[in-house]
Amino acid sequence: MSTNCSRETCSRWLQRWLRSVTRDLSAVCFVAQRSRLPSREALMKIILRLILACSLCSVITSSGAAQATPAESGQASPVVLITGSNRGIGLALAKEYAKSGWRVIATCRDPGKASELTSLAAAHPNVVVEALDVASEPSIAALVAKYRGKPIDVLVNNAGTSGNYAGQVPGQFDETAFTEIMRVNAFAPLRISTAFLDNVSASEQRKIIAISSGRGSVSKPFLERGRTSTT
Ligand SMILES: NC(=O)c1ccc[n+]([C@@H]2O[C@H](COP(=O)([O-])OP(=O)(O)OC[C@H]3O[C@@H](n4cnc5c(N)ncnc54)[C@H](OP(=O)(O)O)[C@@H]3O)[C@@H](O)[C@H]2O)c1
Repeated sequence: MSTNCSRETCSRWLQRWLRSVTRDLSAVCFVAQRSRLPSREALMKIILRLILACSLCSVITSSGAAQATPAESGQASPVVLITGSNRGIGLALAKEYAKSGWRVIATCRDPGKASELTSLAAAHPNVVVEALDVASEPSIAALVAKYRGKPIDVLVNNAGTSGNYAGQVPGQFDETAFTEIMRVNAFAPLRISTAFLDNVSASEQRKIIAISSGRGSVSKPFLERGRTSTT
């Protein structure tokens, strides 16, 4: 809303500038016809106005192109599905896509507890909140069935867990914790990408994004141990 208002205001300013510049140029032509040169001050004023009008014109053109939402530019809004969008980076992405006019399928494990996300959906009709536990096959299957045949332009595999890897050092591996981290961070993106492959293939943009982290590196606990080692 504020973007539209400021663009309208700028357009009005620009129109006023152009009108005054046209007036000045007409005046120059008029005096030139009568063989009288305009004063140095008048010429400086005209040049200054021309420069300002050109700068304003280019700013409005470039900002308009960068900020136009798909709906504003008359295109069908693309669709993005984001995993783990109830907090952190996933929530921030959902907000940005919603603001840009995309249709957002914002997924999270428990929509009942995702108050910020449900508020976002209440404020933006282009956002729907769906339940999705990326480590649960039945949860994935339910969402896939719901969206069968519907294109998804961008699939963002964002859900992730840090787990508790502090004690994951040789001789003390916690296999349950390790398996959970691998299920959510490594296997789930493959599973989700495969599950929604038909939806992404049927879309215009066909993009699958995986957000990874240095914590995805199996060597990290060893490297950290090496750094803190006193031996
Ligand atoms: N923050 C950083 O500095 C950073 C840097 C590099 C990469 N990353 C990557 O960016 C992604 C998001 O990071 P973040 O900092 O926003 O993390 P975060 O605040 O810890 O949020 C993680 C999100 O993943 C969700 N999640 C965890 N397990 C899930 C599961 N089984 N099913 C569905 N959702 C699940 C969480 O939902 P719940 O609320 O239900 O747990 C939460 O929404 C992660 O993949 C992370 O590795 C982050």
